[in-house]
Amino acid sequence: MKSTYLIPALALAGVLAGSLQAQTPAAAELRKKALEVITPIPAAMPGAEKDTPGLIGLGKKLYFEKRLSANDKQSCNSCHQVDGGKAGVDHEPTSPGAFGKRGGRNSPTTLNAGFHLAQFWDGRAETLADQAKGPILNPIEMGMPKDVDVVQKLSRISSYKKAFAKNFPGETNPLSYDNLAKAIAAFERTLVTRDRFDDFLKGDDKALSTAEQKGLHEFLTVGCTTCHYGPLVGANSYRKVGAVNPYPNTTDKGRIEVTKEEEDLLVFKVPSLRNIALTAPYFHDGAARSLPNAVSQMAWMQLGQKLSDEQVTSITTFLRALNGKGIKGKDTVAAVSSESQGQPAMP
Ligand code: HEC
Ligand code: HEC
Repeated sequence: MKSTYLIPALALAGVLAGSLQAQTPAAAELRKKALEVITPIPAAMPGAEKDTPGLIGLGKKLYFEKRLSANDKQSCNSCHQVDGGKAGVDHEPTSPGAFGKRGGRNSPTTLNAGFHLAQFWDGRAETLADQAKGPILNPIEMGMPKDVDVVQKLSRISSYKKAFAKNFPGETNPLSYDNLAKAIAAFERTLVTRDRFDDFLKGDDKALSTAEQKGLHEFLTVGCTTCHYGPLVGANSYRKVGAVNPYPNTTDKGRIEVTKEEEDLLVFKVPSLRNIALTAPYFHDGAARSLPNAVSQMAWMQLGQKLSDEQVTSITTFLRALNGKGIKGKDTVAAVSSESQGQPAMP
């Protein structure tokens, strides 16, 4: 991918970028620049071609099934809420599990997750199906003792026995933990969102307002696309958090726990920025409460740039055009404007 936008050294100093803001290129030119680094979300997720309506329906039932937790209190949807067009999150910095205990990481959205290069903040699960097997048995999440206990519990529910037999025909043990994960993954592969930014990329000049186009230009010029690129505006590489200036909380060591490679210390999956205005709070520890705060911290930590309030507002305005149509999560850009916005990463 050859683009000046990918080279942080060429990112302009704040003052210069500020003076350039006024000169947003014409829509066609801006689209051309954007398409060098970002493409529309593909029509379907990898693997979706084999998903049948029956399997997707079973997966959806399981995604909302509280009996998959030890005390029948928690489903996948408790932490990744997708009912009623919600944005796949719970808006908690870290999520309480079935027994109320919290883990150390923020719940990412399940929307579009099947497009990611891997699952979890550190990429430790390769596929959605691998991922789905984790939370059910995690003692501080859904807390089931063992996979056989989950299978036994579901086997006592005749509608599940029937649904598994129907959707995994010819198998000796259709109701297995592997098949449960496969079904949930099939449902998750339907969680694809569409937004106005894609309409713009596909040729509709009017899909983005003048202010949003200006924000897109700023986003590209400042150098955010060094890491946030591709169809999801991220989610296709791992990078260190605090690449230029340190991230204040170093408790979570990131991907080094997976690879055991020194170079992966504090390295995390670059998150997708699709629907980002609807998934606060931000970062792996949920420390940034608002999107403007996350944007200015990113510029400082990852690019060594102090953005003006105007630049932050402009980029944030663009990022809100990445809200999926029909997705109605909490928009914290509007909600958190004046109150304190999380820990200070910037001096
Ligand atoms: C108690 C809250 C909780 C429950 C219940 C829960 N999750 Fe999660 N989920 C999380 C957290 C926290 C992470 C991030 C953990 C990490 O990166 O180590 C996560 C990560 C994920 C991811 C990866 C997304 C990404 O961007 O990498 C997917 C997909 C996912 N969960 C799906 C599910 C499914 C399916 C279920 C039900 C079987 C489920 N989750 C149950 C909290 C929860
Ligand atoms: C050098 C790579 C890099 C650059 C450049 C970069 N980011 Fe990030 N971004 C990341 C990584 C890695 C994370 C995850 C950090 C974490 O939580 O540990 C992240 C997280 C974020 C988040 C929070 C996502 C979430 O779901 O919590 C936002 C918002 C964001 N970046 C926006 C931006 C903007 C806007 C810019 C440009 C000003 C930018 N980033 C530049 C790598 C980068």
